[in-house]
Amino acid sequence: MQDQIIGFIGGGNMANSLVGGLVSNAYPADKIIVSDLDEKKLAFLNEQFGVNTTQDNVGLAGRCDILVLAVKPQHMRSVVEPLEQAVQSNRPAVVSIAAGIREAHLEKWLGGGVPVIRCMPNTPALVKTGATGLHANAFVSEEQKDRTESLLRAVGVTVWLDNEQQLDIVTALSGSGPAYFFLMMEALEKAAVDAGLEQKTAQLLTQETALGAAKMALESSESAATLRERVTSPGGTTEAALTVMEEKGLRDIFAQAVDAAKHRSIALSEELGG
Ligand SMILES: NC(=O)c1ccc[n+]([C@@H]2O[C@H](COP(=O)([O-])OP(=O)(O)OC[C@H]3O[C@@H](n4cnc5c(N)ncnc54)[C@H](OP(=O)(O)O)[C@@H]3O)[C@@H](O)[C@H]2O)c1
Repeated sequence: MQDQIIGFIGGGNMANSLVGGLVSNAYPADKIIVSDLDEKKLAFLNEQFGVNTTQDNVGLAGRCDILVLAVKPQHMRSVVEPLEQAVQSNRPAVVSIAAGIREAHLEKWLGGGVPVIRCMPNTPALVKTGATGLHANAFVSEEQKDRTESLLRAVGVTVWLDNEQQLDIVTALSGSGPAYFFLMMEALEKAAVDAGLEQKTAQLLTQETALGAAKMALESSESAATLRERVTSPGGTTEAALTVMEEKGLRDIFAQAVDAAKHRSIALSEELGG
């Protein structure tokens, strides 16, 4: 893997976290090349991680083994179409981390028959605790899949999906999911402050409780339902709180929220591919 040249088009937040993850996992910095319009971002990446930089997207597509497309979804088509010739002759594995851009659209913009891997990472990738869903089209080899998985594993866990449509569900679950937990933390914190705790105390206890619950769930072989039942004594405080949540329809709220996000993801894919 370490002999592969990894090229990034777009040197923003996600590229920064992926490059940082690769370099801290001892991937050779001289095998990483980042292209961006902004010279300041490139200078930062070079100083911070020692990676090579360029502003020549076509030249980069013509010489790397893995080409990571890390620009905003709305810029993707105009960034990708000029790469067609370079990609057709060099044939790198094209890895897109953009939300809502389908494999078929990327393939078409690149002239057809191109190995494309679509990934949906999430923001905790910025602190190396990301969760990424991946799907590969029929032109991707097992070796290219392994290499792409290693790249994304530098910033968290990875899961391969059976079909591309499942990426809309991943978007609704882990892609948008950090915001659901932030909202819950915000609400819990406010409830504790309203009940009489100091804001800093409420914030610390909320954050540590979220971290502790996630850690317990990850380290246990039991389901979340079993872990919840274990900490809910009949007639106790937890049961009193959970009864309110159940009666107010918390499960239904999550079902509707995930469904709404999934449908928005599908609609965005249609808009962006047009
Ligand atoms: N941030 C996340 O947590 C997250 C999670 C999942 C997926 N994603 C996906 O990751 C992708 C990147 O997100 P991000 O947050 O890293 O965005 P970002 O910080 O805006 O980075 C994108 C970079 O691409 C540059 N760029 C634009 N046009 C270019 C061109 N023609 N050639 C080279 N570089 C160009 C942008 O420059 P300018 O700023 O000058 O336009 C910017 O520096 C998006 O498609 C997003 O959907 C992000």
